[in-house]
Amino acid sequence: MMSEPVQISRERIASDFQRPIYHFLPPSNWMNDPNGFIQWQGQYHLFYQYNPFGAVWGNMHWGHATSRDLIHWQDHPIALAPTPGGPDEAGCFSGCAVDVDGTPMLFYTGARGERHDTQTQCRAISRDGLMTWEKDLRNPILHRVPDLSGQQADFRDPFVWKQGDAWYMVVGSRVEDVGGAVFLYRSDDLVTWTYLHPLLIGDRERTGLVWECPNFFPLDDHRWVLIVSAHTGSATGTVFYFVGDYVDHQFTPAVQGVLDHASLYAPLTTLDDAGRRLLIGWIREERPDSALTAAGWAGAQSIPRVLSLDSGSRLLMTPVSELGAIRGRHSRLAARPLDGEATLEVSGRALDLDAEFVPERDGTCGISVVCSMDGGERTDVFYDAAQETLTVRTVIDGAAPTVRVVPHALDAGEHLRLRLLLDGSVLEIIANQRTSLTHRVYSGDAAHQGVRVVGRQARLNALDIWEMPSIWR
Ligand code: FRU
Repeated sequence: MMSEPVQISRERIASDFQRPIYHFLPPSNWMNDPNGFIQWQGQYHLFYQYNPFGAVWGNMHWGHATSRDLIHWQDHPIALAPTPGGPDEAGCFSGCAVDVDGTPMLFYTGARGERHDTQTQCRAISRDGLMTWEKDLRNPILHRVPDLSGQQADFRDPFVWKQGDAWYMVVGSRVEDVGGAVFLYRSDDLVTWTYLHPLLIGDRERTGLVWECPNFFPLDDHRWVLIVSAHTGSATGTVFYFVGDYVDHQFTPAVQGVLDHASLYAPLTTLDDAGRRLLIGWIREERPDSALTAAGWAGAQSIPRVLSLDSGSRLLMTPVSELGAIRGRHSRLAARPLDGEATLEVSGRALDLDAEFVPERDGTCGISVVCSMDGGERTDVFYDAAQETLTVRTVIDGAAPTVRVVPHALDAGEHLRLRLLLDGSVLEIIANQRTSLTHRVYSGDAAHQGVRVVGRQARLNALDIWEMPSIWR
């Protein structure tokens, strides 16, 4: 552990063209999961896993920022730091914020031990509007993982809500040789928690070894959604969701899906004053620690998304409409048949793109971004109608392409909708609001900014592109 916090100013690293300009990230250093996301007296508060000592994971603190519109953020001092000798001495891990009759309260995981292998649940309250936090002297308020798991090293990320007169909490964990697990608790006073039963246990082959960062909430009035981030044991993995019925504290999933297929992880949701269920997720890096240390920063948060369900109970995600208010210069490509590829006049590394295509039975269609003039470097996002897949493929001069292919079937008569949020090295891809593929592009050259539209046996209905500004004034 380094002894002194390091802080590089936003201005100093603003010229790094890999660094997003309209996605939230701290001034410098490492960030991972969003924590304690809540709207409080109109203002959104976002806390996050933060290492004040460098641009790699470690020394977990809670960073803090606020926003009025979910797009522009103001930095605040660190909200939670490990207490030497306390249950969180090795790290203040992820958790949530709740409104307890007008008092803000945080629930989080305290990590202890050199390998963070004693994980217990703690709480803190604020008496000054979420700026400073007092840890409960009784911490940890939940100290033993259920016997079914027995894995004190994987017992983390409390998510708390109120239902009727009682409080409920889910905590992520695992059952040895079986898979990830989420355990359900109840409390009347938010201090004494009674274990009820597993809310859900996964299958290690299909949904990973450990479940982290559970979220459990009703959506669109009639169904409940469970979101888990699946850890393989050695690396962060995939985010899954389950939609089903919740009766007598028993959850019966009916529909299961992948919330994001690539680099978005550990998302956290909250219900805002407008009744929207908002989701924000950590966009992790895909480059080695040495590159992160050299850059001085790591990790970004997604643009918050509004969640809903379609008629088949699939989870739908739409970036918040507030993003529209900062859009800059607009270009529109009118409807046309596609046969080959066309380079567009608009270019950039901070763009919001919204397209609709109509592929024929064997058609392909999509958009390429971060293209060099000669086409040697490019990132293609395209749909293959015959395969019913969405592909993202990045070619950076001289290196082997990185390719991700994920299932994406269109319903009968449905057109392909592609929303792309490109921002430095971040590329959020959402197809038909339901297939999310968050990708990173570490282009070798700031000048590679070209945009192309590609397709065969397909038709473009419309393509709108907006240039996006920096959110840091
Ligand atoms: C998910 C996670 C959480 C944990 C936190 C530690 O990325 O592993 O389970 O609380 O990060 O930083």
